[in-house]
Amino acid sequence: MILMEKETLIWAEEALEKVTKKMECVHERSKDKIPYTTVNGVHDDHSKNDIGWWTNGFWGGIMWQLYNVTKDERYKKTAIENEEKLDALFLNYKLLDHDNGFKWLPTAVANYRVTSNDQSKNRGILAADNLAGRFNANGNFIRAWNDWDGDKVDRRGWAIIDCMMNLPLLYWASETTKDPRYKHIAIKHANTAKENFVRPDGSVKHIVEFDIEKGGEVKNYGGQGYKEGSSWTRGQGWGIYGFALSFLHTGDIEYLKTAQKIADHFIEKTPENGLIPVDFEQPSDITWEDSTAAAIAACGMIQISKFDECTDKDKYYNAAVKLIKALTDNRINWNENEDDLLTKCTAAYHDEKHEFSIIYGDYYYIEALCKLTDKELFIW
Ligand code: GLY
Repeated sequence: MILMEKETLIWAEEALEKVTKKMECVHERSKDKIPYTTVNGVHDDHSKNDIGWWTNGFWGGIMWQLYNVTKDERYKKTAIENEEKLDALFLNYKLLDHDNGFKWLPTAVANYRVTSNDQSKNRGILAADNLAGRFNANGNFIRAWNDWDGDKVDRRGWAIIDCMMNLPLLYWASETTKDPRYKHIAIKHANTAKENFVRPDGSVKHIVEFDIEKGGEVKNYGGQGYKEGSSWTRGQGWGIYGFALSFLHTGDIEYLKTAQKIADHFIEKTPENGLIPVDFEQPSDITWEDSTAAAIAACGMIQISKFDECTDKDKYYNAAVKLIKALTDNRINWNENEDDLLTKCTAAYHDEKHEFSIIYGDYYYIEALCKLTDKELFIW
């Protein structure tokens, strides 16, 4: 029995109701777009000139969660349009990277789970085939990014913690095709990540470079966090939720232990007010926050608390509720005339711009409320 569950349920239901009310207005204005952020309260649109951007599945994911909660067919229609727009990617391998999971799990695979339609299944399997093709068999890791035009960085050996969230596409493909190859790759990558990304204190590295012929860590990078050796908070969130999901799909208890270890570090570092910095190790005079990290970590902790094998369900559930309450009370824009929902999100510590709205922050905040109220359409 999780403490205070009833009280939290009532609170979360009220919050979700307010969110769905606001999102009805946002949807009316943004239904033809694939938004990433807002400019002066208005969603931008990545569907025309930036269809390869890694976040382009989250608007569809929001639509499926809203559809699941309200059964309003308008959301389903917009979700399917988002899915169809992503088809352009299958004609350009340069636009495909390890983020196939983020793009097609909340769109095609969600659609397939709801409607069992063959076209969405086809899209999901194609995306999984491409993701599996990024596996380095000597190093046992999935290559993260491609070489970006213009810079001379060799990324062939790079894997990143975020990829743990893309592995469920491979687990789903094995379950759907009854072919274990996809799952074998996911497990090999997850084991490499468990050994090489997670530090003894439970924090995780963002980027690890592996030897592309022999395997083994060559070097690691601070990536989107403050510096090498620091604790980029969204990366911690990807680790918590990602390892919890590998446990869900494989039943390997070591993944659950790893998720709990990363979550313990996150809980220990969470400030009293529950608002999360961009990096737990950022200098004390830097106040930049990343609300996306709070929302993602909360989803991961709620997921952990649902497992029978979890050793301290209350701890993870209560920590997640603290994070989501802090966001609800302080970091939600309730103005129905503006498109942004979750505020003070940060893409990367060393970017020029900090603390703006980002679509995956909105997505995971909504998913967390759906999880707390048992109204979630399972995406991962
Ligand atoms: N997956 C990239 C990021 O979290 O910013």
